Amino acid sequence: MASSIVYPAIPSELCSRKSAIFSSSNALLVKPTRTQMVGKGKGVRITCQATSIADDRVPDMAKRETLNLLLLGALSLPTAGMLIPYATFFAPPGSGGAGGGTIAKDALGNDIIAAEWVKTHGPGDRTLSQGLKGDPTYLVVEKDRTLATYGINAVCTHLGCVVPWNTAEKKFICPCHGSQYNDQGRVVRGPAPLSLALAHADVDPDNGKVVFVPWVETDFRTGENPWWA
Ligand code: FES
Repeated sequence: MASSIVYPAIPSELCSRKSAIFSSSNALLVKPTRTQMVGKGKGVRITCQATSIADDRVPDMAKRETLNLLLLGALSLPTAGMLIPYATFFAPPGSGGAGGGTIAKDALGNDIIAAEWVKTHGPGDRTLSQGLKGDPTYLVVEKDRTLATYGINAVCTHLGCVVPWNTAEKKFICPCHGSQYNDQGRVVRGPAPLSLALAHADVDPDNGKVVFVPWVETDFRTGENPWWA
């Protein structure tokens, strides 16, 4: 199915002389309109239509670029105007906690006061609260009944189930596929590939509220960089 033939790359040579007259002084648009197989070894004959356009009607590149810039600007402003509210919709508003963190909330949505929390949650307790980006996050009460300085994100690193604390086993055991994490959230059995994420659990000195702050430092359980940061 031969459908093309190699000719010199000069447009005028691709067109029959019957169909067009080419002049260096005129701007000509050359438009191939039909191809036809003439015969074996003779290649393809191309007939062209040529239209002459006056020089003053050919738009110059500077005008085109200016128009392109104007069009781009006209499209960008409304697009940005639509994207900004869309993006902020998915970013929960900051709660004004210390260091730009998020105030921890209990199951009823109330702010958690550290001193009151440890009165009602005994040593070794791990209870879910609402953490960064709304993620379920365990607050940890140490053996001396102080609040641990870290919270443990309860989202399983396998496929995202919320992992309950098993008081008897002293482990977090995922009900979905059986992954296990120790009492600090370090993975001890798969299929989960990674330990549970951490967040700082600070106490605001002004009001005693617990504030979660992103954990970007070394993971103290593994000595590695945090995979979630
Ligand atoms: S989601 Fe937790 S083990 Fe699969």
